[in-house]
Amino acid sequence: MNTQTSILALMTKDHCKIEELINDLEAKTKEDYNSMRQAFNIFEWELEKHIFTEEKAIFTSYNPEDVSEGYKMLPELTKQHNFIINTLNNWREDVRKRRMINDVYSFKEFIIKHKNFEEEKVYPKLDEALPEEEKRNIVAKINEIVQK
Ligand SMILES: [Fe+2]
Ligand SMILES: [Fe+2]
Repeated sequence: MNTQTSILALMTKDHCKIEELINDLEAKTKEDYNSMRQAFNIFEWELEKHIFTEEKAIFTSYNPEDVSEGYKMLPELTKQHNFIINTLNNWREDVRKRRMINDVYSFKEFIIKHKNFEEEKVYPKLDEALPEEEKRNIVAKINEIVQK
């Protein structure tokens, strides 16, 4: 086992997976409805799992009393996650009504900005601030959900 546990490394790996899936979805929206629906279902599932993990397993462990300075980022993250969830809900409705999803590109740009924010500002801070024991618990939860 490695001695240093990194939430950043695990979540970055999952970000890469999500980025590949949205690229695939973008390509499939230029093909046919069925390929698009298939790509959407996979993308949605993985992204919802990812956000669930962040909100229920990772950010909940972040105690503002430990690190007051970094606490401001939580409301911003929640706001961005709400936008992501709303977009997924709208797209799910499109798919249900057999409509083609459009403007995947601008959502992709949002997702990339969001992931960069987490990778640069959020996860390094958490890795630094959380006690090893706490990190091990979080990593175990991440592995339950987002890893293949
Ligand atoms: Fe996120
Ligand atoms: Fe993330």
